[in-house]
Amino acid sequence: MTRVLVTGGAGTLGTEVVKELLTSGCCARVMSRKPAPATLPEGVEWAQADVLTGDGVMQAAQGADVIVHAATNAMRKNAYDTEVEGTRRMLDAAQAAGVRHFIYISIVGIDRVPFPYYKAKLAAEHVIKDGATPYSIVRITQFHTLIDLLLGAVTLLPGVSLTPMDFQFQTIAPHDAAQSVAQVVCGRPGGLLPDIGGPEVMTLGAMAPAWLKARRRRRLIVPLWMPGAVARGYRAGHNTCPDRRVGRQTWQEWLAQTYPNGWT
Ligand SMILES: NC(=O)c1ccc[n+]([C@@H]2O[C@H](COP(=O)([O-])OP(=O)(O)OC[C@H]3O[C@@H](n4cnc5c(N)ncnc54)[C@H](OP(=O)(O)O)[C@@H]3O)[C@@H](O)[C@H]2O)c1
Repeated sequence: MTRVLVTGGAGTLGTEVVKELLTSGCCARVMSRKPAPATLPEGVEWAQADVLTGDGVMQAAQGADVIVHAATNAMRKNAYDTEVEGTRRMLDAAQAAGVRHFIYISIVGIDRVPFPYYKAKLAAEHVIKDGATPYSIVRITQFHTLIDLLLGAVTLLPGVSLTPMDFQFQTIAPHDAAQSVAQVVCGRPGGLLPDIGGPEVMTLGAMAPAWLKARRRRRLIVPLWMPGAVARGYRAGHNTCPDRRVGRQTWQEWLAQTYPNGWT
Protein backbone atom coordinates (compact mmCIF):
# COMPACT_ATOMS: atom_id res chain seq x y z
CA MET A 1 0.00 0.00 0.00
CA THR A 2 1.43 3.39 -1.01
CA ARG A 3 1.90 5.74 1.94
CA VAL A 4 1.31 9.35 0.96
CA LEU A 5 2.03 12.43 3.04
CA VAL A 6 -0.26 15.31 2.03
CA THR A 7 0.97 18.68 3.27
CA GLY A 8 -1.91 21.12 3.52
CA GLY A 9 -4.01 17.97 3.77
CA ALA A 10 -6.71 19.80 5.73
CA GLY A 11 -6.97 22.61 3.15
CA THR A 12 -9.28 23.00 0.14
CA LEU A 13 -7.38 20.76 -2.28
CA GLY A 14 -5.67 18.59 0.33
CA THR A 15 -8.96 17.41 1.85
CA GLU A 16 -10.14 16.21 -1.56
CA VAL A 17 -6.79 14.62 -2.38
CA VAL A 18 -6.94 12.61 0.85
CA LYS A 19 -10.45 11.35 -0.07
CA GLU A 20 -9.25 10.34 -3.54
CA LEU A 21 -6.19 8.56 -2.14
CA LEU A 22 -8.33 6.51 0.21
CA THR A 23 -10.57 5.53 -2.72
CA SER A 24 -7.53 4.38 -4.68
CA GLY A 25 -6.33 2.25 -1.79
CA CYS A 26 -3.47 4.44 -0.54
CA CYS A 27 -2.71 5.27 3.07
CA ALA A 28 -2.82 9.05 3.59
CA ARG A 29 -1.08 11.08 6.26
CA VAL A 30 -2.40 14.62 6.64
CA MET A 31 0.17 17.22 7.58
CA SER A 32 -1.21 20.28 9.37
CA ARG A 33 -0.06 22.88 11.87
CA LYS A 34 -3.04 21.92 14.00
CA PRO A 35 -3.22 18.98 16.39
CA ALA A 36 -5.02 15.84 15.23
CA PRO A 37 -8.80 15.87 15.55
CA ALA A 38 -10.42 13.49 18.02
CA THR A 39 -11.34 11.02 15.28
CA LEU A 40 -9.86 10.26 11.88
CA PRO A 41 -11.29 8.20 9.02
CA GLU A 42 -9.85 4.71 8.62
CA GLY A 43 -6.63 4.78 6.62
CA VAL A 44 -5.80 8.37 7.57
CA GLU A 45 -2.92 9.39 9.82
CA TRP A 46 -2.12 12.87 11.10
CA ALA A 47 1.20 14.70 11.47
CA GLN A 48 1.46 18.07 13.16
CA ALA A 49 4.19 20.12 11.48
CA ASP A 50 5.00 23.59 10.25
CA VAL A 51 6.99 24.19 7.06
CA LEU A 52 7.93 27.72 8.16
CA THR A 53 9.67 26.68 11.38
CA GLY A 54 10.48 23.13 10.31
CA ASP A 55 8.91 21.76 13.51
CA GLY A 56 7.73 18.20 12.97
CA VAL A 57 8.57 18.16 9.25
CA MET A 58 11.19 15.38 9.36
CA GLN A 59 8.94 13.15 11.48
CA ALA A 60 5.98 13.82 9.17
CA ALA A 61 7.91 12.54 6.15
CA GLN A 62 9.19 9.38 7.88
CA GLY A 63 7.82 6.26 6.20
CA ALA A 64 6.21 8.14 3.29
CA ASP A 65 6.64 6.77 -0.24
CA VAL A 66 5.16 9.86 -1.89
CA ILE A 67 4.67 13.47 -0.76
CA VAL A 68 1.96 15.70 -2.18
CA HIS A 69 3.07 19.18 -1.21
CA ALA A 70 -0.03 21.40 -1.10
CA ALA A 71 0.69 23.52 2.01
CA THR A 72 0.50 27.19 1.15
CA ASN A 73 -0.27 30.57 2.64
CA ALA A 74 -1.26 32.62 -0.39
CA MET A 75 -2.63 35.70 1.32
CA ARG A 76 -0.19 36.09 4.20
CA LYS A 77 2.93 38.22 4.32
CA ASN A 78 5.02 35.08 4.82
CA ALA A 79 3.67 33.61 1.56
CA TYR A 80 7.12 33.65 -0.08
CA ASP A 81 8.87 31.90 2.80
CA THR A 82 6.10 29.36 3.15
CA GLU A 83 6.36 28.53 -0.52
CA VAL A 84 10.12 28.64 -1.10
CA GLU A 85 11.74 27.86 2.25
CA GLY A 86 8.84 25.59 3.17
CA THR A 87 9.29 23.61 -0.04
CA ARG A 88 13.05 23.39 0.59
CA ARG A 89 12.37 21.97 4.07
CA MET A 90 9.89 19.46 2.69
CA LEU A 91 12.42 18.38 0.05
CA ASP A 92 15.13 17.91 2.68
CA ALA A 93 12.72 15.81 4.71
CA ALA A 94 11.74 13.85 1.60
CA GLN A 95 15.35 13.06 0.82
CA ALA A 96 16.13 12.05 4.41
CA ALA A 97 13.10 9.74 4.42
CA GLY A 98 13.91 8.20 1.02
CA VAL A 99 10.67 9.42 -0.54
CA ARG A 100 10.46 8.20 -4.15
CA HIS A 101 8.16 10.85 -5.62
CA PHE A 102 7.69 14.49 -4.56
CA ILE A 103 4.59 16.12 -6.07
CA TYR A 104 4.33 19.89 -5.98
CA ILE A 105 1.00 21.59 -6.58
CA SER A 106 1.47 24.68 -8.68
CA ILE A 107 -0.64 27.07 -10.75
CA VAL A 108 -1.15 27.45 -14.51
CA GLY A 109 0.51 30.56 -15.92
CA ILE A 110 2.77 31.43 -12.99
CA ASP A 111 5.54 32.16 -15.48
CA ARG A 112 3.32 34.60 -17.43
CA VAL A 113 1.34 36.48 -14.77
CA PRO A 114 3.74 38.42 -12.47
CA PHE A 115 1.62 38.17 -9.32
CA PRO A 116 3.98 38.08 -6.27
CA TYR A 117 2.51 34.80 -4.99
CA TYR A 118 3.04 33.25 -8.43
CA LYS A 119 6.67 34.43 -8.40
CA ALA A 120 7.09 32.55 -5.12
CA LYS A 121 5.56 29.42 -6.67
CA LEU A 122 7.89 29.69 -9.65
CA ALA A 123 10.87 30.00 -7.29
CA ALA A 124 9.65 26.90 -5.43
CA GLU A 125 9.42 25.00 -8.74
CA HIS A 126 13.10 25.85 -9.35
CA VAL A 127 14.04 24.60 -5.87
CA ILE A 128 12.37 21.28 -6.72
CA LYS A 129 13.99 21.02 -10.16
CA ASP A 130 17.41 21.64 -8.59
CA GLY A 131 16.81 19.03 -5.87
CA ALA A 132 17.73 15.36 -5.84
CA THR A 133 14.28 13.84 -5.23
CA PRO A 134 12.34 12.61 -8.30
CA TYR A 135 9.39 14.96 -8.74
CA SER A 136 6.26 15.94 -10.58
CA ILE A 137 4.96 19.49 -10.77
CA VAL A 138 1.20 19.70 -11.31
CA ARG A 139 0.03 23.11 -12.46
CA ILE A 140 -3.71 23.62 -11.99
CA THR A 141 -6.01 26.52 -12.88
CA GLN A 142 -7.92 28.48 -10.20
CA PHE A 143 -10.48 26.55 -8.17
CA HIS A 144 -14.20 27.44 -8.24
CA THR A 145 -13.81 28.09 -4.49
CA LEU A 146 -11.27 30.87 -5.13
CA ILE A 147 -13.61 32.80 -7.44
CA ASP A 148 -16.38 32.27 -4.88
CA LEU A 149 -14.15 34.01 -2.32
CA LEU A 150 -13.12 36.72 -4.78
CA LEU A 151 -16.70 37.56 -5.73
CA GLY A 152 -17.64 37.56 -2.04
CA ALA A 153 -14.97 40.21 -1.51
CA VAL A 154 -15.99 42.42 -4.44
CA THR A 155 -19.62 42.44 -3.27
CA LEU A 156 -18.82 43.66 0.23
CA LEU A 157 -19.94 47.16 -0.73
CA PRO A 158 -23.71 47.53 -0.50
CA GLY A 159 -25.58 47.65 -3.81
CA VAL A 160 -22.69 47.27 -6.22
CA SER A 161 -20.22 44.66 -7.34
CA LEU A 162 -17.02 46.22 -8.68
CA THR A 163 -15.90 43.55 -11.13
CA PRO A 164 -12.90 43.30 -13.48
CA MET A 165 -15.23 42.02 -16.20
CA ASP A 166 -12.68 40.86 -18.76
CA PHE A 167 -10.44 38.82 -16.44
CA GLN A 168 -10.46 35.25 -17.73
CA PHE A 169 -10.58 32.09 -15.65
CA GLN A 170 -10.84 28.37 -16.34
CA THR A 171 -11.91 27.35 -12.87
CA ILE A 172 -11.95 23.75 -11.72
CA ALA A 173 -13.75 21.96 -8.89
CA PRO A 174 -11.30 20.99 -6.13
CA HIS A 175 -12.50 17.36 -6.29
CA ASP A 176 -11.80 17.24 -10.05
CA ALA A 177 -8.32 18.70 -9.45
CA ALA A 178 -7.79 16.15 -6.67
CA GLN A 179 -8.64 13.26 -9.00
CA SER A 180 -5.86 14.40 -11.32
CA VAL A 181 -3.43 14.69 -8.41
CA ALA A 182 -4.32 11.17 -7.22
CA GLN A 183 -3.55 9.85 -10.72
CA VAL A 184 -0.12 11.48 -10.50
CA VAL A 185 0.43 9.75 -7.14
CA CYS A 186 -0.20 6.41 -8.85
CA GLY A 187 2.21 7.21 -11.70
CA ARG A 188 5.93 7.78 -12.01
CA PRO A 189 7.71 11.11 -11.43
CA GLY A 190 7.26 13.10 -14.64
CA GLY A 191 8.83 16.52 -14.04
CA LEU A 192 6.67 19.43 -15.15
CA LEU A 193 3.41 17.76 -16.21
CA PRO A 194 0.82 19.07 -18.71
CA ASP A 195 -1.47 21.72 -17.22
CA ILE A 196 -4.74 20.75 -15.53
CA GLY A 197 -7.68 23.07 -16.26
CA GLY A 198 -11.39 23.32 -15.68
CA PRO A 199 -14.02 22.56 -18.35
CA GLU A 200 -14.62 26.11 -19.64
CA VAL A 201 -12.89 29.46 -19.98
CA MET A 202 -15.13 32.27 -18.72
CA THR A 203 -14.75 35.96 -18.07
CA LEU A 204 -15.41 37.21 -14.57
CA GLY A 205 -18.13 39.32 -16.20
CA ALA A 206 -19.92 36.06 -17.11
CA MET A 207 -19.16 34.30 -13.82
CA ALA A 208 -20.42 37.11 -11.58
CA PRO A 209 -24.13 37.12 -12.57
CA ALA A 210 -24.36 33.34 -12.04
CA TRP A 211 -22.73 33.75 -8.63
CA LEU A 212 -25.05 36.62 -7.61
CA LYS A 213 -28.04 34.49 -8.62
CA ALA A 214 -26.81 31.45 -6.70
CA ARG A 215 -26.08 33.55 -3.62
CA ARG A 216 -29.36 35.47 -4.04
CA ARG A 217 -27.60 38.80 -3.79
CA ARG A 218 -28.75 41.87 -5.64
CA ARG A 219 -25.90 44.01 -6.87
CA LEU A 220 -25.38 46.31 -9.80
CA ILE A 221 -22.31 44.94 -11.58
CA VAL A 222 -20.00 47.88 -12.17
CA PRO A 223 -17.08 47.20 -14.53
CA LEU A 224 -13.72 47.83 -12.88
CA TRP A 225 -10.68 48.43 -15.06
CA MET A 226 -7.42 47.49 -13.38
CA PRO A 227 -4.00 48.68 -14.54
CA GLY A 228 -0.71 46.77 -14.44
CA ALA A 229 0.95 43.63 -15.73
CA VAL A 230 -0.94 41.24 -13.45
CA ALA A 231 -4.29 42.55 -14.67
CA ARG A 232 -3.05 42.35 -18.26
CA GLY A 233 -2.11 38.72 -17.67
CA TYR A 234 -5.59 37.81 -16.40
CA ARG A 235 -7.22 39.76 -19.23
CA ALA A 236 -5.10 37.85 -21.75
CA GLY A 237 -6.01 34.54 -20.08
CA HIS A 238 -2.39 33.60 -19.38
CA ASN A 239 -3.73 31.74 -16.32
CA THR A 240 -5.82 29.42 -18.52
CA CYS A 241 -5.06 26.32 -20.60
CA PRO A 242 -7.96 25.96 -23.08
CA ASP A 243 -6.38 22.88 -24.67
CA ARG A 244 -6.37 21.07 -21.32
CA ARG A 245 -10.02 20.92 -20.17
CA VAL A 246 -9.55 18.13 -17.63
CA GLY A 247 -12.06 19.03 -14.89
CA ARG A 248 -15.70 18.11 -15.49
CA GLN A 249 -17.84 20.12 -13.09
CA THR A 250 -18.70 23.54 -14.54
CA TRP A 251 -18.99 26.79 -12.59
CA GLN A 252 -22.80 26.65 -12.85
CA GLU A 253 -22.90 23.04 -11.68
CA TRP A 254 -20.59 23.79 -8.77
CA LEU A 255 -22.71 26.80 -7.73
CA ALA A 256 -25.90 24.72 -7.90
CA GLN A 257 -24.32 21.99 -5.77
CA THR A 258 -22.70 24.35 -3.26
CA TYR A 259 -25.59 26.80 -2.85
CA PRO A 260 -28.72 24.73 -3.54
CA ASN A 261 -30.97 27.17 -1.68
CA GLY A 262 -29.04 30.36 -2.30
CA TRP A 263 -27.94 32.56 0.56
CA THR A 264 -30.08 35.33 2.01
N1 LIG B 1 -6.89 27.84 -4.61
C1 LIG B 1 -6.71 27.78 -5.93
O1 LIG B 1 -7.48 28.32 -6.73
C2 LIG B 1 -5.52 27.02 -6.48
C3 LIG B 1 -5.44 26.79 -7.85
C4 LIG B 1 -4.35 26.07 -8.36
C5 LIG B 1 -3.38 25.59 -7.50
N2 LIG B 1 -3.48 25.87 -6.17
C6 LIG B 1 -2.42 25.36 -5.30
O2 LIG B 1 -2.94 24.26 -4.60
C7 LIG B 1 -2.30 24.15 -3.32
C8 LIG B 1 -3.36 24.08 -2.25
O3 LIG B 1 -4.14 25.26 -2.31
P1 LIG B 1 -5.49 25.39 -1.45
O4 LIG B 1 -6.33 26.40 -2.15
O5 LIG B 1 -6.02 24.04 -1.15
O6 LIG B 1 -4.92 26.07 -0.13
P2 LIG B 1 -5.58 26.16 1.32
O7 LIG B 1 -7.01 25.79 1.29
O8 LIG B 1 -5.20 27.51 1.84
O9 LIG B 1 -4.79 25.05 2.12
C9 LIG B 1 -3.43 25.17 2.35
C10 LIG B 1 -3.11 24.56 3.69
O10 LIG B 1 -1.72 24.75 3.94
C11 LIG B 1 -1.52 24.63 5.34
N3 LIG B 1 -0.42 25.51 5.75
C12 LIG B 1 -0.34 26.85 5.65
N4 LIG B 1 0.82 27.30 6.17
C13 LIG B 1 1.48 26.19 6.62
C14 LIG B 1 2.71 25.99 7.28
N5 LIG B 1 3.51 27.01 7.63
N6 LIG B 1 3.07 24.72 7.59
C15 LIG B 1 2.27 23.66 7.26
N7 LIG B 1 1.08 23.80 6.66
C16 LIG B 1 0.69 25.04 6.35
C17 LIG B 1 -2.82 25.06 6.01
O11 LIG B 1 -3.25 24.00 6.81
P3 LIG B 1 -3.30 24.05 8.43
O12 LIG B 1 -3.98 25.35 8.80
O13 LIG B 1 -4.11 22.84 8.71
O14 LIG B 1 -1.88 23.98 8.88
C18 LIG B 1 -3.80 25.24 4.85
O15 LIG B 1 -5.03 24.61 5.09
C19 LIG B 1 -1.37 25.35 -3.23
O16 LIG B 1 -0.08 24.98 -3.62
C20 LIG B 1 -1.94 26.33 -4.25
O17 LIG B 1 -0.99 27.22 -4.76
C21 LIG B 1 -4.53 26.54 -5.63
